[in-house]
Amino acid sequence: MDYAKYIKSVLDFPTAGINFRDITSLLEEGPVYHSAIDEMAAFAKNKNAEVVVGPEARGFVIGGPLAYSLGIGFVPVRKPGKLPREVETVSYEKEYGIDTLCIHKDSIRSGQRVIVTDDLLATGGTIEATIKLVKKLGGVIVGVSFLIELTELGGSDLLKDYDVLSLIKY
Ligand code: PRP
Ligand code: ADE
Repeated sequence: MDYAKYIKSVLDFPTAGINFRDITSLLEEGPVYHSAIDEMAAFAKNKNAEVVVGPEARGFVIGGPLAYSLGIGFVPVRKPGKLPREVETVSYEKEYGIDTLCIHKDSIRSGQRVIVTDDLLATGGTIEATIKLVKKLGGVIVGVSFLIELTELGGSDLLKDYDVLSLIKY
């Protein structure tokens, strides 16, 4: 399916110079959203994944239905102060300053097979931090999937060790 035609591009959002790729217009189209999740599930199926991990907030919109489709659990990665139990944390550099992501310490067992997913790969900082969190808990990454990859930002250079699926590439 030509998923790109369901993405609206918004220039200079949220700041000047950014061409924002808005997935909400794709999510609004039930059969298209369903098909995108089905393709990710097909990618994950033969990997014997045991859990899906995704970062807030847009990663939940992909990771939740993907986990449901695969019949496995979903583990959220969240900003500080959101998860109620003991967390593992990773800090990473954004364009401006430092950001931190957290995961519940007991959410993944050592050796568990993990699919990591998000809506979009840009610089790769978010997905790299998410992968670090999974690894800290002893999880094994068996695949990484995105709806959108912004190829010119080179985020995939950080994912050379993994099997990666991107449904749309800009
Ligand atoms: C967006 C997007 C990815 C991340 C990609 O999330 O959903 O998670 O940026 O950028 P990167 O590859 O350069 O890290 P954002 O931080 O805007 O948060 P949101 O999902 O809560 O909107
Ligand atoms: N996250 C990081 N860069 C983005 C972009 N260009 N569009 C949508 N989400 C993003």
